[in-house]
Amino acid sequence: MFTTIYWLTALILLLLLLPLLQCIEKNRYVVDTDYCRIPDPSPFSKESMQDFRLGKYKPCTKLQPLTWVKYNESLEHYVLSINESAYQWHLQIDLELRSPQTAALNCCYMEVERENDNVVNVMQCKHFKGSVQLSNDFDSFLVECYAKDKLIYTNAHATVPERSALRQRLQQWRSTKEKPPSVLMLGIDTISRLNLMRAMPSTYRYLKLNGWFELAAYNKIAANTLPNLLAFLTGRNLNSVMEHCNPYLIGGLDKCEFIWKLYRELGYVTAFGEDAVSINTFNLRMRGFRESPVDYYLRPYLIAAEQWLDVSQQPGQEYQVCLGYEHASEHIYNYALEFARRYRNDSFFGFFWTNTHSHGYRISRTSAMDSYMTKYLKRLVEQGTMNHTIVVLLSDHGTHQLPTRMSSLSWLEERLPFLFIWLPPSLRKAHPEFVQALQVNRQRLSNPYDLHVTLKHILSLSGRNSLEGMGGAQDCPNCQSLLLPLPLNRSCEDVAIGDHWCTCWSYSEYKANSANDKMMAQLAFEYLVDYFHKNVFVRNLYDVQPKTLVGISKGLVAKRNKADDPRISIYRLRLLTQPKNVLFEVTIRVNSSSKEMHVSDISRLGPV
Ligand SMILES: *[C@@H]1O[C@H](CO)[C@@H](O)[C@H](O)[C@H]1NC(C)=O
Ligand SMILES: *[C@@H]1O[C@H](CO)[C@@H](O)[C@H](O)[C@H]1NC(C)=O
Ligand SMILES: *[C@@H]1O[C@H](CO)[C@@H](O)[C@H](O)[C@H]1NC(C)=O
Ligand SMILES: *[C@@H]1O[C@H](CO)[C@@H](O)[C@H](O)[C@H]1NC(C)=O
Ligand SMILES: *[C@@H]1O[C@H](CO)[C@@H](O)[C@H](O)[C@H]1NC(C)=O
Ligand SMILES: *[C@@H]1O[C@H](CO)[C@@H](O)[C@H](O)[C@H]1NC(C)=O
Repeated sequence: MFTTIYWLTALILLLLLLPLLQCIEKNRYVVDTDYCRIPDPSPFSKESMQDFRLGKYKPCTKLQPLTWVKYNESLEHYVLSINESAYQWHLQIDLELRSPQTAALNCCYMEVERENDNVVNVMQCKHFKGSVQLSNDFDSFLVECYAKDKLIYTNAHATVPERSALRQRLQQWRSTKEKPPSVLMLGIDTISRLNLMRAMPSTYRYLKLNGWFELAAYNKIAANTLPNLLAFLTGRNLNSVMEHCNPYLIGGLDKCEFIWKLYRELGYVTAFGEDAVSINTFNLRMRGFRESPVDYYLRPYLIAAEQWLDVSQQPGQEYQVCLGYEHASEHIYNYALEFARRYRNDSFFGFFWTNTHSHGYRISRTSAMDSYMTKYLKRLVEQGTMNHTIVVLLSDHGTHQLPTRMSSLSWLEERLPFLFIWLPPSLRKAHPEFVQALQVNRQRLSNPYDLHVTLKHILSLSGRNSLEGMGGAQDCPNCQSLLLPLPLNRSCEDVAIGDHWCTCWSYSEYKANSANDKMMAQLAFEYLVDYFHKNVFVRNLYDVQPKTLVGISKGLVAKRNKADDPRISIYRLRLLTQPKNVLFEVTIRVNSSSKEMHVSDISRLGPV
């Protein structure tokens, strides 16, 4: 009797638990089809959390800036003003300025003009009292204030001045129809989707709870920032960019068909800003832009600001965090906010990228900005930007630097940056199918080329050109808008994601010491030597050039998906090379019937 009850209870419990178990099983994959299976591990594994410390936001200074700028709608000019009460505060801490009598504050401002992508011209300092109307011919201003002939204050202000040529463009394209949605892209360098959950939990929660759409299987297409950004900004891969609009030649990049050019041609106002001048995406070891690529280009402002303001590094951080009174990234975020506010009644395209709080290998680093980012997203809501703007919040890749890159999750994280899209309510109402598509696309394989087509799709909503008229993504013919359902039968091969970057297969370790393994290693090593030989920028990027292959330090083989060609095998090898014990990771495709081997790509893991 007792055992019967016992078994019955056990059975009932099991039945109750079954759906739960299934649920856990189901959640283990972000994408789970015969063509692609991308795992969805917890970001909080013991290994990942080992060196992880949540950071805390620290303001750069407790002092208030002595000056501020504000746009005056009726004057159609920015006005620069001295904040008298901030000066009073300043006097409290600088006793010398108060005795024997309070020193008068003497301020002047300098207009900053772009000479080229690396040089700015700073005009002579113009004195002013109280407040002064700024010229619409400049976007950037430096301010200095003296008291008792001592320089006590330096600051920089960026503005979004009114321009008649621009206003004419907007007027010319204005139609009686409803205003087409604007686009605001906000990018944070080096944050995987898993690290967004880990390091920015409050931001992640905010996005999930407030109707943003996540693309959880957004797979990068190349190693670092430049090619992944070029893919969504131009629809091209790096090789084709090198041929078509070589960034290493003066004026080369100006020839690329950046998406912001298309927006500008079709009557939008455009802006682009990025922090950390020395590592800017289009300037690091490259020639940058000859002409300003957009209507409001923030690089000259940042060059001036980095030259004139205190750039302070907090211990252990590679790049500056504070730039004067604010974090370097806040200069970008505030400008994005002001750009969106100024052109709220028009159609704009803004692209803003920040490096300073996330670049590098420390996965905890960006967590200091978590509360700031959450508040920032709320500020966008408060100023009404979310009512008329499609907002894209994204990263380019996860960390690919040591030592983090040695952890077991990091291979996956490196390849899956986060991507969130916001649609304004009016667009959701007019196009419920976009909402449905984004909901299913959360769990479908997507990539930066799809994002490129999406940006064209959004532009086509203006009725000023059709999607067909603009073409898709040059180097991914099968890529498509994320506002339409992505096919369930997508594989990496379909959408120009090379084997080396593809997260659709899970790998298992094996003992790599057969003749075949040695052949693969040799082939990969030759590829590596050739790669260094051919690419000046690779040689410059890495301090050592591999000379000899020591051996295979780890072998992995991909578990292929049901729909994959069974004759093809994918191997991932870690190769130890000399000098300096540098580790490389290579991915090799092998056709078992023809015995053909093909090296997909390589990554350097760094010295052991
Ligand atoms: C804008 O400037 C006008 C003219 O100087 C002034 O009367 C008005 O108060 C200013 N508006 C704001 C919001 O400061
Ligand atoms: C001026 O300074 C005071 C006190 O330092 C501060 O509370 C106020 O917000 C500042 N005003 C502006 C417009 O920045
Ligand atoms: C935008 O439109 C609103 C409402 O029509 C108006 O009050 C505001 O002045 C306009 N602002 C700009 C910058 O055009
Ligand atoms: C955004 O739109 C909603 C609904 O139309 C409206 O209630 C809200 O005031 C708007 N927000 C801003 C800041 O304009
Ligand atoms: C994927 O499915 C679509 C229909 O949804 C079909 O047209 C296409 O041929 C399929 N592709 C592959 C590779 O099976
Ligand atoms: C593999 O090799 C066989 C025999 O040479 C060939 O017929 C087949 O097309 C190859 N498969 C792929 C996917 O390249």
